[in-house]
Amino acid sequence: MKLLVTGGLGFIGSNFILKTLEKNKDWEIINIDDKLYGSNSKSLEKIEKSNRYEFVKGNITNKEILDKTMIKCDAVINFAAESFVDRSISDATSSFDSNLKGIFILLELIKKYKKRLVQVSTDEVFGSLDKGSANEIFRFNPSSPYSATKAGAELLVNSYFITYGCNCVITRCTNNYGPRQFPEKLIPKIILLAEQGKKIPIYGTGTNIRDWIFVDDHCDAVFNVLNNGKAGESYNISADNEISNISIVKKILALMNKSEDLMEFVEDRPGHDFRYSMDSSKIRSELGWKNKVKFDDGLKKTVNWYLSNNDWWKNIVKDSLNQTPWKN
Ligand SMILES: NC(=O)c1ccc[n+]([C@@H]2O[C@H](COP(=O)([O-])OP(=O)(O)OC[C@H]3O[C@@H](n4cnc5c(N)ncnc54)[C@H](O)[C@@H]3O)[C@@H](O)[C@H]2O)c1
Repeated sequence: MKLLVTGGLGFIGSNFILKTLEKNKDWEIINIDDKLYGSNSKSLEKIEKSNRYEFVKGNITNKEILDKTMIKCDAVINFAAESFVDRSISDATSSFDSNLKGIFILLELIKKYKKRLVQVSTDEVFGSLDKGSANEIFRFNPSSPYSATKAGAELLVNSYFITYGCNCVITRCTNNYGPRQFPEKLIPKIILLAEQGKKIPIYGTGTNIRDWIFVDDHCDAVFNVLNNGKAGESYNISADNEISNISIVKKILALMNKSEDLMEFVEDRPGHDFRYSMDSSKIRSELGWKNKVKFDDGLKKTVNWYLSNNDWWKNIVKDSLNQTPWKN
């Protein structure tokens, strides 16, 4: 299998590439990434010289680069996206370009070369839920420019399946955490601010709820869907681990032996969704996937990883710990 991965210098893409090459000795991966905000070349340093890995610096909106690369591959997984909700609120241009124009170009090329595509999407397409969980046919109700462009991308993927019979499938996941996540995101931000003894900003009252999954479990699910998922279908991926932001901050401070006095409540993000929740029984019953990592174990692993890998984050940490990025 020769796989094209887009956005492989980001958090989930880099974990996916490392795990897939490690576990599948006859697989090769080409990674296209434009080294945008959120990427970190250090994540894949250890495989840079592998003859089963190739890096192409390029934007997925660039049809020429993508065309030359796609022709060499059997299938594509699209992780590339502008993934920062706060930044999409400040300026939605890059969300539109990467998340909508990017998938359009990818779809045109998988249609041309008849390749399989896995589109990696998010629970945020369903918007905030007071109660219950969204299954695969729940209505879309995105709140931010980020989630709206991800929802639009899903609709476009679906249309290429219906109209052209393209071999595409969608995965939709809850909040990921784990090693190699950019420090602007909640969990690494808490760890790195606490480590430096700095105040930890908590949006609003901190009661917003997300459903958290360890990144390895998400990667296993995407790998399973790539191999076994049915074209035209979507699969929700969640670990049934709903927890409020403030509980996460408290857990991390306890793990790091730091005082809760570091917590500081700040102005809430505009349009901040209160709760996301997804029902993932379809992927469990149809494809036999299940999550393996318990939240407390994964969190401990994540804290330890950041504390022992300061080479990975020391050059990017200053700007990414900015307290209210949507005001930039
Ligand atoms: N992080 C989460 O909790 C989460 C949850 C569900 C779904 N997702 C989805 O998973 C995917 C990966 O998320 P992540 O957290 O790893 O994001 P990330 O921001 O860490 O990484 C995104 C990567 O894509 C690259 N990229 C962005 N736009 C590009 C473009 N136009 N051309 C080429 N490269 C481009 C960036 O340089 C970066 O390396 C995204 O599609 C995101 O929507 C993320």
